[in-house]
Amino acid sequence: MNDPEAAVAFHLLTRHGSPVDRSGLVDFRPLDPSNRPAPFKRYRELEPRPLPRSIAATEPGRLDEAELGRLLFLAAGVSRVSDSPVFEDRTYFRTTMSAGNLHPVELYVVGGPIGDVPAGVHHYDPLGHGLTQLRAGEFDGVAIVLTGIPWRTAWKYGERGYRHLYWDAGGIVANLLAVTEADSLTARVFAGFDDDEVAQLVGIDGRTELPLAVVTFGSDRAPDWSVDTPLSLETEPISPHPIDFPLIEATQRAGIVADVGKWRVAAAELGEPATPEVPAPRELPPVEDMILRRGSTRIMRPDPAPRALLDWGMGMATRPVPCDFAGQGRTLLQHFLSVHGIEGVEPGAYRWRPERRQLEVVHLGDYRPEAQLLCLRQPLGGDSAFTTFHCADLDTVLGALGARGYRAAQLEAGIAAGRLSLAAFALGFGATGLTFFDEAVSEFFSTRASCMLVTSVGIPAYRNAPGGPPGAATELAGYGRLMERLSLQLHRSR
Ligand SMILES: Cc1cc2nc3c(=O)[nH]c(=O)nc-3n(C[C@H](O)[C@H](O)[C@H](O)COP(=O)(O)O)c2cc1C
Repeated sequence: MNDPEAAVAFHLLTRHGSPVDRSGLVDFRPLDPSNRPAPFKRYRELEPRPLPRSIAATEPGRLDEAELGRLLFLAAGVSRVSDSPVFEDRTYFRTTMSAGNLHPVELYVVGGPIGDVPAGVHHYDPLGHGLTQLRAGEFDGVAIVLTGIPWRTAWKYGERGYRHLYWDAGGIVANLLAVTEADSLTARVFAGFDDDEVAQLVGIDGRTELPLAVVTFGSDRAPDWSVDTPLSLETEPISPHPIDFPLIEATQRAGIVADVGKWRVAAAELGEPATPEVPAPRELPPVEDMILRRGSTRIMRPDPAPRALLDWGMGMATRPVPCDFAGQGRTLLQHFLSVHGIEGVEPGAYRWRPERRQLEVVHLGDYRPEAQLLCLRQPLGGDSAFTTFHCADLDTVLGALGARGYRAAQLEAGIAAGRLSLAAFALGFGATGLTFFDEAVSEFFSTRASCMLVTSVGIPAYRNAPGGPPGAATELAGYGRLMERLSLQLHRSR
């Protein structure tokens, strides 16, 4: 239980770019179109009840039904649609990014009553923007439980998809925190909780759908929800033959913590200083506009960008997370940058020092080609103004927090990437999450820290249509053409 070795083994077995013993991994056909997971979870015989359509800000500091709808939509709602370049059905894009656009994370609201939303447990429907009530009953406070369906992402990424669950959950948490900060609501992120208790509460089996994180609102108190009755709710099958990945199951199980209180005490001692305060470089758009503007940048123009993009973006990304997995004002992460085109910064490899909001030179040089290579040879890694490699010293984190610390580090990396991306779009630039060759990143930056996730930030080479509010998703007419341009560029670069 909470065995760090299991997390280390998982991490090593799911590296890109290093020889891996594949005998412990499932041999399957990635992206099998005949076994494609459904993008939305649907309950049989239960209908979602619509939430208010408006996502405009309501009264500061008040969590009413409209605010709940605003939070859920801006965290996970469908904001753009397009015809799929490959499949017959439509492609749905959400307010947060997700590798492969697979969106394996589900959201559940616990608590209430909130306006017309009765007290109990509800599942969020990101397409219809509604809540399906799963359970009635009074619960302390209001919280959102984030769960992950491994098969939805493992369909493409295999066992590495387990990392994606936490990255994507982190992106959702970044948006939740951005909205709560803008709306003067308090929020707190919990990575330590009783897995079985949370799974039972929201009616998941903890195997094909895993509890990932809990965000509480209006109170710093840790969730404590024992329920006597299991839920037995039928859902539509996710795909004809979902595949199990025993390594994912084992890694998640390895992170189960027997004494959550003790785990939190250890976590409260952990971390390096995060960025204390970040003055905005200019007046910013409302948070809903910032979020709706976001759409992963697919092609970047390698032109110089202003210094504020780096300084403010990195400052925003490396603020402390109000959480139970690091000490107050602290972070589990370290951030390394390949700077390519920032006015007033000599190109090179740097480490970001959050407490001083400063760059520290690792080595100088024009590293566009190297950064592209590190990001699986994707031009976005090198065409950016800068590419950030969000890393964690896993020896330290897992030494203190066990395998549960692995979940927390991946989650915090997703939060940092989400925040950096939002900051870039807020200033009118672009960003995308990127995957990477694990060990090559550590070697390039001469660090023993392991790369958790990459965000590339820069100047989009095309105009990005903003997303729309609930029920009025923007139709992306040029998406197919953009993807053709991208695959041509990828083909040339490889
Ligand atoms: C963890 C993570 C990794 C990603 N990796 C890549 C990548 O390697 N290459 C890429 O082009 N996009 C990558 N993306 C961006 C996704 O492809 C994108 O979020 C998804 O297609 C949905 O589009 P949207 O962000 O515009 O809504 C990544 C996103 C995330 C969250």
